[in-house]
Amino acid sequence: MSTDYKFQGWMGLDPSAVDGNMKWQSYEPKPWQETDVDIKITHAGICGSDLHTLRSGWKPTDYPCCVGHEIVGHAVKVGNKAEGDIKVGDRVGVGAQSSSCLKPDCEECANGVENHCQNIGKANTYDDRYPDGSKSYGGYADYWRGPSHFVFKIPEEISSEDAAPMLCGGITLYSPLKRNGCGPGKKVGIIGIGGLGHFGILYAKALGADKIVAISRKANKKDDALKLGADEYISTDEDSKWAEHHAQSVDLLISTVSSPNMPLEQYLQLLRVHGTFIQVGAPEDRLPAFHAFALIAKGAKIGGSAIGAPGEIREMLDLTVKKKVKAWINTRPMKEANQTVVDMGANKARYRYVLVNEAHVK
Ligand SMILES: NC(=O)c1ccc[n+]([C@@H]2O[C@H](COP(=O)([O-])OP(=O)(O)OC[C@H]3O[C@@H](n4cnc5c(N)ncnc54)[C@H](OP(=O)(O)O)[C@@H]3O)[C@@H](O)[C@H]2O)c1
Ligand SMILES: [Zn+2]
Ligand SMILES: [Zn+2]
Repeated sequence: MSTDYKFQGWMGLDPSAVDGNMKWQSYEPKPWQETDVDIKITHAGICGSDLHTLRSGWKPTDYPCCVGHEIVGHAVKVGNKAEGDIKVGDRVGVGAQSSSCLKPDCEECANGVENHCQNIGKANTYDDRYPDGSKSYGGYADYWRGPSHFVFKIPEEISSEDAAPMLCGGITLYSPLKRNGCGPGKKVGIIGIGGLGHFGILYAKALGADKIVAISRKANKKDDALKLGADEYISTDEDSKWAEHHAQSVDLLISTVSSPNMPLEQYLQLLRVHGTFIQVGAPEDRLPAFHAFALIAKGAKIGGSAIGAPGEIREMLDLTVKKKVKAWINTRPMKEANQTVVDMGANKARYRYVLVNEAHVK
């Protein structure tokens, strides 16, 4: 494959980018290292985090910023020190993390939890800096460059448009489900049926949970949630006593809610004794206060989780093949990225938008 290519992508230049004002521009990728891989992008999922970042919701974004961290394409250049037996032409992907310190004395990197590396050297796939100080740029683009340790071969059984959103949305639910014992004998609730939440239902099912409860605001996602694999559906807007009616019904709750305006204390009511609540949604403001007895009375725990480590991503892809997990996605042409970001903000995805770089799909 040709190595004669330019790096161009949809750039957010200021917070209005989230309103559909990204501009298609060239940019300078990180300086090439022999541990890197260049990817000719065919697909890029749209994650809620892209919108938080485009609007500088969490912190001031380092514009210009090309978001997108659910990337699939073909390797077009592979460094001679690249990991993972990646070859030019292979179908590969990258998720939300693209660097960590990888030092043998780093407790996290050495133990396969690179996603929690606390050292200099950790970098998100966009709006971050690699150890050499260069900026990281994401996948609403023609090409991507980054360290091979965070690049995954995509199994042939999984289509590129399905694989892309698994690399952030999928792993962000698979990892806390697995780590918190989702499987036979467990009842699991997934709060917020968006991109992450729909993967929560799919992977809870694939892991063999006894019961899956989908918790959404309105009633309009009920049929989909049941088709995805949920056994029960709670619409919090439709039943003012939902927390009482479903009290003590699940062992594990994963919240993908992206807004701070959530009924947290009521969610905690759904937990059984010794239950666990894990927050993965990342609101732009603090979580609501709640009464300590919501935890104390039931010996319950509250925690968080960040994406997943490379080893877990491979494990998730294997399970996806084994259990034939199928993402529910809507494809849109990459040239319509601006409108698609606006539609994502309006909660219209069912359940993940995937941008297709049509010039790169033959
Ligand atoms: N921890 C991590 O590693 C990680 C990784 C990726 C993304 N995230 C974060 O996870 C969040 C979700 O991302 P996503 O891509 O799944 O977004 P999404 O598709 O927009 O889904 C978010 C869902 O949250 C629910 N929601 C929104 N506002 C709510 C409110 N006020 N009260 C209750 N529920 C509400 C909605 O579900 P219903 O319509 O069903 O009510 C919505 O579909 C974002 O904050 C994102 O940044 C975190
Ligand atoms: Zn994401
Ligand atoms: Zn580390």
